[in-house]
Amino acid sequence: MLKSFLEGLDGLTLECEARRGQACSLKDLEALRVEFLGRKGKLAGAMVALAQMGPEDKPAAGKKANEVKTALTALLESRQAELEAESAQGALAGFDPSLPGRRPAPGSLHPVTLAMQEICEVLTGLGFEVVAGPEVENDWNNFEALNMPPDHPARDMQDTLYVSENIVLRTHTSPLQVRTMMSRKPPVAVIAPGKVYRRDSDITHTPMFHQIEALLVDTNVSMADLRGTLTAFVRQLFSPDTKVRFRPSFFPFTEPSAELDISCVLCGGEGHVAGAPCRVCKRTGWVEIGGCGMVDPNVFRQVGYDPETVTGFAFGLGVERVAMLKYGIGDLRMFFENDVRFLEQFS
Ligand code: PHE
Repeated sequence: MLKSFLEGLDGLTLECEARRGQACSLKDLEALRVEFLGRKGKLAGAMVALAQMGPEDKPAAGKKANEVKTALTALLESRQAELEAESAQGALAGFDPSLPGRRPAPGSLHPVTLAMQEICEVLTGLGFEVVAGPEVENDWNNFEALNMPPDHPARDMQDTLYVSENIVLRTHTSPLQVRTMMSRKPPVAVIAPGKVYRRDSDITHTPMFHQIEALLVDTNVSMADLRGTLTAFVRQLFSPDTKVRFRPSFFPFTEPSAELDISCVLCGGEGHVAGAPCRVCKRTGWVEIGGCGMVDPNVFRQVGYDPETVTGFAFGLGVERVAMLKYGIGDLRMFFENDVRFLEQFS
């Protein structure tokens, strides 16, 4: 009886050895463990015979049973380790640790932001202080105080985006002239960069664009100061030989008023490049970058400044226009399309 018991146990070990390799998943392996080592498994079955043995056979049979249990456990555990290693490798299949990682795409400043920063840098260098105001503005700051009475054509629904009867999206940065003078005593020297809105949309106009306003008020400020300031400004912003030209114009809040032109940055004012007509200035030699003038006495009266004692100048620059000239961008729409291939060039 002992002999067949011992042979039976050896048989269990051999069978387990043969079948462990067929367990291809941890689930298969667990089933195998239950089959051999479970409470109702093959080893437990063999132990029934052990209980019936006489005292002379029991020690040897018990010893063998323990050995087999240890052997079976070791066989199954080593198979488990193999399966785990295989599945870890499966997860890494196709992964090449020597490949370089994916770099995060670096962001860059928008060309309009860059132009704003450069303009502000030059003007603060000349002594102007940066101020800011709301894009949703009241009628008085945007129009009335700027010498635009209710029936003025510039207030026409055509151009202005109304929020309500007396609230507009500011159509220019000039309300910052009003806000500054209402809250400070002269002298003032401020610039106001920001977004402005107009009901206008075609290839050269967008409903939102950017301006930078400048205002200087003091005693004895003259048009020569305006021209000198603008000349120093454009020479620093573009190149030392850039020229300024004033073209007579009209703004309700300045008198006299002028359109502000600079000599063309592409052809240098020649009107042609290598014999061909300049595409930037359309052979005129000049390009417009904004409007300017001497602060109208009516504006001073509205904000409580005395036009008999102070004078001042103001100018407003189109930032997209400046950015196009500075960076050689031919189409206004580029600024608003968010094409990364375009934006990336400014990093
Ligand atoms: N606010 C004017 C515009 O938007 C520009 C301007 C500013 C003109 C300051 C004169 C003085 O067209």
